[in-house]
Amino acid sequence: MPKTGSTAAPPAKKKGATDGNGAAAAKGSSKPAGAPSSDGSTLDIKDNRNNKSYTVPIVDCAIRATELKKIKTDDPNDSGLVSYDPAFLNTASCRSAITYIDGDKGILRYRGYPIEQLAEKASFLEVAWLLRKGELPTQDEYDKFVHDVTWHTYVHENFRKFLEGFRYDAHPMAMLNSGIAALASFYPTSRNIFDERERDISMVRLLAKTPTIAAFSYRHVKGMPFVYPDNRLSYVENFLSMINRMSESKYEPNPTFVRALEILFILHADHEQNCSTSAVRGVGSSHVDPFSAMSAGVAALFGPLHGGANEQVLRMITEIGNVKNVPKFIESVKSGEGGRLMGFGHRVYKSYDPRAKIVKKLADDVFKIVGVDRDLEIALELERIALSDDYFTQRKLYPNVDFYTGLIYRSMGFPTDFFTVLFAIARMSGWLAQWEEMLLDKEQKISRPRQIYIGPKERPYSTKLNRKSASAG
Ligand code: ACO
Repeated sequence: MPKTGSTAAPPAKKKGATDGNGAAAAKGSSKPAGAPSSDGSTLDIKDNRNNKSYTVPIVDCAIRATELKKIKTDDPNDSGLVSYDPAFLNTASCRSAITYIDGDKGILRYRGYPIEQLAEKASFLEVAWLLRKGELPTQDEYDKFVHDVTWHTYVHENFRKFLEGFRYDAHPMAMLNSGIAALASFYPTSRNIFDERERDISMVRLLAKTPTIAAFSYRHVKGMPFVYPDNRLSYVENFLSMINRMSESKYEPNPTFVRALEILFILHADHEQNCSTSAVRGVGSSHVDPFSAMSAGVAALFGPLHGGANEQVLRMITEIGNVKNVPKFIESVKSGEGGRLMGFGHRVYKSYDPRAKIVKKLADDVFKIVGVDRDLEIALELERIALSDDYFTQRKLYPNVDFYTGLIYRSMGFPTDFFTVLFAIARMSGWLAQWEEMLLDKEQKISRPRQIYIGPKERPYSTKLNRKSASAG
C-alpha cells in the first residue's frame, strides 16, 4: 500500500486565483499559472421586461450562472433566470488544472505538457501520475508508483466466478463495467473518500486491476483460461501477457506492439470534461466510492458517440467493403440516410484532432510489422474525400482519435468489440485524477442541473375509466 504524501491532494485554491490551464479559464490567456485572472471586467445586462439593469462580474472569461438567478420580474413566483444549455454546449462545470484543449488550434496538453512530447517520451504510468499529482514523478516516486501498481494487479479469486457467470458472447465493456462496480464490494473502506490513504489505495487498485479485469473478460469471451498477472512485466507487457499467453513460462510481447499500446494509452488518458469524465464527476459528486464512480465512466464510454466510436469505425469500414464504394457511402452520410461518418467530428476539436495525427503515424509502425491492414485503403479514401467535401469542411468535421485506432488494434489481434475496453484502461487514469480534483474542489457540490418544466399544470387524479391513454396521441 502506498504511503500518502502531502503531494496527493492539490492545495486548496485561493479565492480569485486561476490555475492557468482551467477549462474556459485560460483560453487565449497568456497569464502565468496561478495569476489572478479577474481584471475587473463586467457584463451589463438589461432586462427588457422591467427595464432593470444588472452588472455581472466576468472572471476567467466566464460569468457565474447563479448571477442570472438575481434577474427577476416583480412576480413573486419568479425564481429568477436560468441558463438553458442542453448537452453543455457552452457551460463550464468546473475549474480544472488537469487537461487543456484548444479545439480550434488542435492543441492538447496534460498539466501543461504537449501531448506530442508525452506520447514520444513518457510511459503511461508516468502520465497517470502526472495527471493526478500535477507534476511528473521523480525517479523515486516513479519506482514506488510502478511497484505499487504492479503489486495490486491481482483480483480476488471470487472474480473468476463472477466473470464466469457472464454469457459466452457478453460484450467485454459490459463485463468491465460490472467488474469495476463489483470491486466496491471487495473494498468497503474505499467509501471513506475523504481519507487520503483510502483514496491513494483505491486509485492504485483501479489502475492496477482494470487491465486484469479487462483481460479476464477477453479470455472469458474467447473461452480461454484466465492468465494471472506476471509482476516481472511492465504495465503494458503484463496486460498483453494476460491477453495472449498460452503455455509459455514467460510471455515475451512484441516491443513495437508494447510501445504502440503505451502511446495509445497516453493519448487516451484524459480529455477534460468529456461525456465519461462528466459522468464520473457527476456520480462521484454524490460522494459514492470511487469504484462505483469509475464504473459510471465505463458505462458512458461504451456509447457509440463516445469511446464506442472506435468499434463503430471498423464496423462502418467493413460494411463499406471496398474503396470504390466510398463515394456512395459519403453521399449517404451527407443525405442523412447512411448515419454518421464514425471517427469524424468532435465537440471540441474544430480542426484535426492532435491525437489522430499521432495515431496515423503509429499505424505505419504497426503495419510495418504485421503488414498493411486490408481496410487502410478504405479509411484513407474516406478521409481524403471527407476532407475535401464542403459538407465536412463547413461543419469543421475532421478525423478524431478513433478514426485510425481500430485498424491498429485489429492489426495487433484485438477483436472489434474489445477496442473500447482498451480506451477504458487508459481513461481510468484521467477519470481518477478528475474525480479527486472534483472531491477536493471546495466549490463543488452534488451535481444537480436545473430544468425547464414543460409538463402539465396541476390536475386531479382520475379513475381508470376516465383516463385517456398516453399512446392515443
Ligand atoms: N458525420 C456526419 N455528420 C456529422 C458528424 C459525423 N461524424 N458529426 C457531426 N456531424 C454534423 C451533424 O449532423 C450536424 O450537422 P447539421 O448542423 O447539419 O445538423 C453538425 O455536424 C454538428 O453536429 P453535432 O451533432 O451538433 O455535433 P456534436 O458536437 O454534438 O457531436 C460528435 C460531436 C458526437 C463527436 C459527433 O461529431 C459524432 O457523432 N461523431 C461520430 C462519432 C464519433 O466519432 N465519436 C467519437 C468522438 S471522440 C471520443 O469520444 C473519443
